[in-house]
Amino acid sequence: MPYSGLATAALLLLLLIVATSAMACVEQEKSSLLQFLAELSHDGGIAMSWQNGTNCCVWEGITCNEDGAVIEVRLTSKGLEGQIAPSLGELTSLSRLNLSYNSLSGGLPAELMSSGSIVVLDVSFNRLNGDLQELNPSVSDRPLQVLNISSNRFTGEFPSITWEKMRNLVAINASNNSFTGHIPSSFCSNLPSFAVLDLGYNQFSGNIPPGIGKCSALRLLKANANNIRGPLPGDLFNATSLEYLSFANNGLQGTIDDALIVKLINLVFVDLGWNRFSGKIPNSIGQLKRLKELHICSNNLSGELPSSLGDCTKLVTINLRGNKLTGELAKVNYSNLPNLKTLDFASNHFTGKIPESIYSCSNLTWLRLSSNRLHGQLTKNIQNLNSITFLSLSYNNFTNIKNTLHILKSLRNLNVLLIGGNFMHEAMPQDETIDGFENIFGISIHDCALTGKIPSWLSKLGNLAVLDLSNNKLRGPIPTWINSLNFLKYADISNNSLSGEIPQALMEIPMLKSDKIADNSDPRAFPFPVYAGACLCFQYRTVTAFPKMLNLGNNKFTGAIPMEIGELKALVSLNLSFNNLNREIPQSISNLKNLMVLDLSYNHLTGAIPPALVNLHFLSEFNVSHNDLKGSVPIGGQFSTFPSSSFAGNPELCSPILLHRCNVAEVDLSSPNSTKEYINKVIFVIAFCVFFGVGVLYDQIVLSRYFRLN
Ligand SMILES: *[C@@H]1O[C@H](CO)[C@@H](O)[C@H](O)[C@H]1NC(C)=O
Ligand SMILES: *[C@@H]1O[C@H](CO)[C@@H](O)[C@H](O)[C@H]1NC(C)=O
Ligand SMILES: *[C@@H]1O[C@H](CO)[C@@H](O)[C@H](O)[C@H]1NC(C)=O
Ligand SMILES: *[C@@H]1O[C@H](CO)[C@@H](O)[C@H](O)[C@H]1NC(C)=O
Ligand SMILES: *[C@@H]1O[C@H](CO)[C@@H](O)[C@H](O)[C@H]1NC(C)=O
Ligand SMILES: *[C@@H]1O[C@H](CO)[C@@H](O)[C@H](O)[C@H]1NC(C)=O
Ligand SMILES: *[C@@H]1O[C@H](CO)[C@@H](O)[C@H](O)[C@H]1NC(C)=O
Ligand SMILES: *[C@@H]1O[C@H](CO)[C@@H](O)[C@H](O)[C@H]1NC(C)=O
Ligand SMILES: *[C@@H]1O[C@H](CO)[C@@H](O)[C@H](O)[C@H]1NC(C)=O
Ligand SMILES: *[C@@H]1O[C@H](CO)[C@@H](O)[C@H](O)[C@H]1NC(C)=O
Ligand SMILES: *[C@@H]1O[C@H](CO)[C@@H](O)[C@H](O)[C@H]1NC(C)=O
Ligand SMILES: *[C@@H]1O[C@H](CO)[C@@H](O)[C@H](O)[C@H]1NC(C)=O
Repeated sequence: MPYSGLATAALLLLLLIVATSAMACVEQEKSSLLQFLAELSHDGGIAMSWQNGTNCCVWEGITCNEDGAVIEVRLTSKGLEGQIAPSLGELTSLSRLNLSYNSLSGGLPAELMSSGSIVVLDVSFNRLNGDLQELNPSVSDRPLQVLNISSNRFTGEFPSITWEKMRNLVAINASNNSFTGHIPSSFCSNLPSFAVLDLGYNQFSGNIPPGIGKCSALRLLKANANNIRGPLPGDLFNATSLEYLSFANNGLQGTIDDALIVKLINLVFVDLGWNRFSGKIPNSIGQLKRLKELHICSNNLSGELPSSLGDCTKLVTINLRGNKLTGELAKVNYSNLPNLKTLDFASNHFTGKIPESIYSCSNLTWLRLSSNRLHGQLTKNIQNLNSITFLSLSYNNFTNIKNTLHILKSLRNLNVLLIGGNFMHEAMPQDETIDGFENIFGISIHDCALTGKIPSWLSKLGNLAVLDLSNNKLRGPIPTWINSLNFLKYADISNNSLSGEIPQALMEIPMLKSDKIADNSDPRAFPFPVYAGACLCFQYRTVTAFPKMLNLGNNKFTGAIPMEIGELKALVSLNLSFNNLNREIPQSISNLKNLMVLDLSYNHLTGAIPPALVNLHFLSEFNVSHNDLKGSVPIGGQFSTFPSSSFAGNPELCSPILLHRCNVAEVDLSSPNSTKEYINKVIFVIAFCVFFGVGVLYDQIVLSRYFRLN
């Protein structure tokens, strides 16, 4: 072992040399750092190296200069908890402090903002709170250049005079906090280098202040998702260096001035969506040659598209969804926009046909023209859109569905195809030669009053996850090949004239049987949300986010609800209402533990409501009204939350909440739910929901009902 001993000795010597060759840190600074450590309630393991008696210049996250003075503290994503000690402000050579991605709480010590040395201060993604104090007006100029306090919990008014002391300020990111009051404009009076201001996701109110136009170097101005009102002030357009401008999601109004917007000649990205702008899209927009993204969705714009839009040849995204624009899309020659990837003209009043020039945009991946007044047939040229993944033509007046499907089937990258609300009263093509559609995850041909049966070409769409054929006049049975759709998770065939019994094959759909099967569909987010459901109030950002749902409502199905329905353990929503189903509700429905919606209303179901349904802890909508059920309504669990209308139209059903109270003979002694047990369950459900994220599902299903966007 002498060799190994020697090696160890050599290593120690080497370490000693390395350690001593790093300049020993200043005792005073070590003490400031140890005070910082002492304020932490959770140090994420840095105490291992932060030992008194060692050189602090070699501590984790510390960098010193040649003189042994600390110049950088970089402790990101360390799981630090507790408060930031003001002692860091005593490090007189500290120029970079980065404490981002921790769980630090309390205030931001004024000593850091007013530090005479800190140039870059990044405390983003923590839990810091309280107000930011104004700097004492008597201090001399401060060197701060970059301040990132975003994604914290700061409140109160934003400092204003403070910035006048920071002549070298370049960037402030204060987004995603709870700042209130007016946006200050003092940044601009005296800050020649000030380039980036992100105040998005706060609670700023009032008008856009005058003075921003003096920010001659400002390249990025973002104040989206606040409560800012009033017009775009003329002065704003003097900030001619602006490349990125976003006031999305505020209460701005007025017009977008033709003569002014063109002054911002460097604009690359504009987002004024979700405001109340009216008037026309300015003609001068064609002079903004650098423009790549134009978002003015959900406003009150009217008039026609300016043909000059075709001069913005760098455009990648145009989103004008949800305005009152009129005229023909062909006002613009899209051949000149070869970079286009995303085009959203949905929910306007456009008329005419789809201009052929759109089909020359071979990089287009997302095209939404839904809810306009377009008409005509698709032409073969749409097959040039090799890259297209999302196509929505819903709610227009397009004709010839057979031709449409034959043309679209060869689009190899198409993932989502929404063409409902067209082709009125045509026949559903049954043509076996409709194949292709290799990568379709979602297809919606609803609201067309189509006749015929569920076509067998659908069975070839091996990746299909979302299918909507609701509101047609389809007849015949549910085909038995339905169980071959290995990825089907959302099927809406409601409001047709489908008949026969609910087939065994339906109970064999793999995705509905198990929530363990990985979703094959594209997890990438859509560039904009997609609306679904008859009310269009369900909003999804990915195909993956669609809930596992079966809606067979409003058809002519007969027979019993098969016992095997209990196999569909992954189901979140089941709707069998408005059919001619009879016999008893199978007990096995109580196996569907993920169910949030169960609608069996308007059938001829008999017998009692299975008491075990009280064990469905997520059930938030339940309807068995207008059947021939009898006996007592189960007590406890979610049943205490259902209104009496859920049970109406079953004269032999009894319950304390119904007109028909139960007499002794009717009370089902087999469900002894004491009140206490029930309260415990409610508390459990609430606690479970809050802490373990019904999150995703709740988001998708319940919240979207209340936030009816668009
Ligand atoms: C670190 O060591 C110095 C010198 O031994 C001592 O004065 C000081 O109190 C120590 N600091 C802490 C926080 O233990
Ligand atoms: C701070 O660290 C994070 C995480 O490494 C990094 O993303 C960020 O850019 C740093 N901040 C600055 C201002 O350099
Ligand atoms: C904070 O903002 C600065 C300036 O924009 C940026 O350089 C830094 O990367 C940001 N920090 C994080 C964690 O993103
Ligand atoms: C500001 O920080 C947030 C995260 O807190 C980030 O999403 C945003 O992109 C940043 N803004 C800029 C301009 O970098
Ligand atoms: C806002 O901050 C929270 C908490 O740090 C974070 O989870 C969220 O992603 C941030 N949102 C944005 C838009 O940056
Ligand atoms: C914009 O700048 C010009 C020239 O610097 C100045 O004359 C004009 O008054 C400014 N406009 C506004 C609205 O402040
Ligand atoms: C929308 O614009 C029209 C003019 O095009 C105007 O009459 C109407 O008041 C505006 N509506 C809102 C809510 O601003
Ligand atoms: C559109 O522009 C292209 C190329 O600039 C041109 O060839 C074509 O004729 C134009 N189309 C229309 C309808 O003006
Ligand atoms: C289309 O996209 C490809 C790949 O992203 C790119 O190489 C090509 O330059 C783009 N074409 C145009 C005309 O923008
Ligand atoms: C739709 O197109 C058909 C045939 O072209 C026409 O008869 C009908 O009036 C149009 N409907 C609407 C609402 O424009
Ligand atoms: C059912 O579908 C037809 C078209 O086939 C439609 O006219 C009707 O409004 C739909 N009913 C409901 C309740 O949506
Ligand atoms: C079930 O489907 C019917 C018929 O389509 C519809 O009227 C009803 O609202 C649906 N139930 C739920 C809970 O969505």
